[in-house]
Parts: sequence; structure tokens; C-alpha cells
Amino acid sequence: MLKGKKIVLGITGGIAAYKAVEIVSRLRKAGAEVYVIMTKEAAEFVTELTFREISGHSVSSDMWSKVTHWNVEHIALANLADLMLIVPATANIIGKTAAGIADDLLTTTLLATKAPVFFAPAMNSNMYENPIVQHNMKTLQEHGWHMIPPATGHLACGTAGIGRLPEAIDVFTVIEDFFSAVQVLKGKKVLVTAAGTIEPIDPVRFIGNRSSGKMGYAIAREAQRRGAEVVLVSGPSALQEPAGMRVIHVETTAQMREAVIKEFSDCNVVIKAAAVADYRAKEIAENKIKKSETTMSIMLEKNPDILQELGSLKKSGQILVGFAAETQKLLEYAKTKLLKKNLDFIVANDITKPNAGFNAETNLVKILSRDGAVEELPLMSKKELAGIILDHVIKKMEINSKK
Ligand SMILES: Cc1cc2nc3c(=O)[nH]c(=O)nc-3n(C[C@H](O)[C@H](O)[C@H](O)COP(=O)(O)O)c2cc1C
Repeated sequence: MLKGKKIVLGITGGIAAYKAVEIVSRLRKAGAEVYVIMTKEAAEFVTELTFREISGHSVSSDMWSKVTHWNVEHIALANLADLMLIVPATANIIGKTAAGIADDLLTTTLLATKAPVFFAPAMNSNMYENPIVQHNMKTLQEHGWHMIPPATGHLACGTAGIGRLPEAIDVFTVIEDFFSAVQVLKGKKVLVTAAGTIEPIDPVRFIGNRSSGKMGYAIAREAQRRGAEVVLVSGPSALQEPAGMRVIHVETTAQMREAVIKEFSDCNVVIKAAAVADYRAKEIAENKIKKSETTMSIMLEKNPDILQELGSLKKSGQILVGFAAETQKLLEYAKTKLLKKNLDFIVANDITKPNAGFNAETNLVKILSRDGAVEELPLMSKKELAGIILDHVIKKMEINSKK
């Protein structure tokens, strides 16, 4: 996957700069061409000579060096890159690029490139956890640049904590994975719903559920990795908004319905991982309800059934996937929902099982297909499961296209 790919690798002035040697070596062995840019400070830690020898190209570091060819160097490198990787990325380079500063060859090339950019931050824990650094990383991510999270462990400053540059093999794997993600969903629009909806009772209270959004966000990210144009419709969630996709924030089921119906007609795939509130308060109190009687009741009315509506609107070729979170009769309820709502697949999870369902990092599910097949999967991460769900969707798309 890396054969012939041109990677512009920026090295900045962090103690972990030496680890970039092994990363360059791994990338080259995998067939990539690597062009190294070093900051002035990086040269305090490692030498240009090492990177010239290991990369097989001269190392760039100065915007004002003697002209040896007629390309403006930062523009040439920015255009040539299939990907830029900054390793290690200091707090300084993260801050400078987040602020749009271009005062040396590396920062100027970063601002001039249209290639995907990956930063591998490495620094002392206090620096990494500093809200300003966190804010800068978030800014870069919001613009679609990627962060390779640092590892936790012993740090060069003598303390232990988060901020270590991951091992060279781990950084290499992230880059390899990026190129190996087959862009089979390129040109397809995938809509994903995530998290729970909430229904107000009065100005301060609401009815909600325990859905975190982790499953839906994982699916949205995986669909994007496979090349899809992704629209994520999300109920309230504490998760960081994924970069590079359209995210529509909603609160109530009625708002989610409106957003989903508006997007549905040109979607190729809809995956409804959100846990929507089935009922809402019939009347929302204008003022905060005061505590008085020992018991009280709230009259509820049914919310619209979004999945049912999508199932009836579905045109041939569109793929619709639902989720069923149950505490009993899992297969029976899931099968009924699959047929009644005209779904292609339903992902059924028994939320009474440990490490499955709401807010967990993992999930334990069965995937039921319209043709009657039931795939029982072992406990796995939500990221892994997102990949398997999309594998099913892609297979179904292939079958549909042959019809
Ligand atoms: C011994 C030493 C180690 C350093 N290690 C780091 C580090 O790991 N991460 C970091 O963000 N800054 C580190 N710094 C600070 C940076 O070198 C400094 O912020 C510099 O301006 C970064 O410049 P650059 O981002 O242009 O390469 C270190 C400084 C020294 C003297």
C-alpha cells in the first residue's frame, strides 16, 4: 500500500526526534519515498546527515538556502506530498500551525499542502495536558488534520505519564492503515445517527437514556476512512466531534427525524445507531415544576418512528441498517423489527451482558440479515464492529449492483 507513496516527514525539536530514524526506515522498506524537513531546533537533537542517509534524499531545513533548482521548495514539497507526518510534533509546532503561523520551512509547507497531515505529539505530560495545547490539537483536528495519540509511560524528563511518542511500529501502522483503507465507499453518501435523543419535561429537566454515541461515532469514522461522504446526526454526546464530516447536532426525536428525512433521499446507506426516545412529554411545562405532591405523573405521547418511516421511503438500492438494544427475547424482537421496518440488517445487542451496549468501549452483538442469516460475533471493540457492519453493507451493495 505504501509503494511509491511520497511522504514528507517533518521532524521538530523534541527529545523523541531520534525515534523518527526508525520510522523513516520502516516507511522506506515498505516502498514509500520519504522527504525529510527538519526544524532548526530538531537539528539540536538529531543530524541532517542521519536522515539524508536513511531517507536517500537531501534534508530540507532552510527556506533561504542557496537555490539549486527553480522550484520554490515549500510549494514543491507541499504539492509532492501524498501525506505529511510530523514526528515528533512539539507543543510549539502544534501551536504555530493552529494559529496559522508560517515562519520556517516546515510550518510554511504545512500550510501550503492539501495532502492529509498526521501529527504525532510527544512532550512532557503537563505540557500535553495543558488546555492551550489541547485546544490547539482540537483546532487542527477540526480542520481535518489527524493526531496520533501519544502513549503513556516513562518520559525523558524523569516522570511517568502521557506524552511519550508511540513506538515506531505503531506510528508506521497508523500511516500504513491510512493508505490501506480501501476507498470502496468513495462517491457514496452514508448517514449515521448516534447517541440518545432527549425529551424536555420543563425548562430544566428531560427524559433521556444512557447511550453515549460511541458506536455511531465509530461507524461514522470507519465509513469516512473507506471514502464515504459522511453525515453524522448526533444527539447530545460528550464525544469529540469527528473531523472532516458534516455533523448535525439535535436534541429531540422530532429534530432527529427532521434532519434524517431531509438528508435521506440521496443517501446510499443509512445506519441508525442512535437510541431515540420513543415517547415525549405531551405538554412541556413552561416553568420549572415545583416539588409538591408525593407522587406526580407526566403524560407521554408517542414520538414518530424514524426507522419505520425510512423503511417505507426506502428506494431500491438504498441500504438501511437498524440497531436493537434489548434486555430479553433478543432474536425474536430483532427479527420482528427487521421485517416490520423494511431493514437490510439489524445489529442486535443484549445490553444486560457485561461490556456490551450503552457507554461501553466494546459490544457483543448478532447481525441479522434480511435473507435470514444470523452472524453471532464475539465481544469486540466498537471500532472493530463498525468495520464488520460496513463489510456487510458493502457486500450488499455489490449484490445490489449485480441485480
Ligand atoms: C532537552 C530538550 C527537550 C525538549 N523536548 C521537547 C519535547 O519532547 N516536546 C516538546 O514539545 N518540546 C520539547 N522541547 C522544547 C522545544 O525544543 C522548543 O519548544 C522548540 O522551540 C521547538 O521548536 P520546533 O517546534 O520549531 O522544532 C525540548 C527542549 C529541550 C531543550
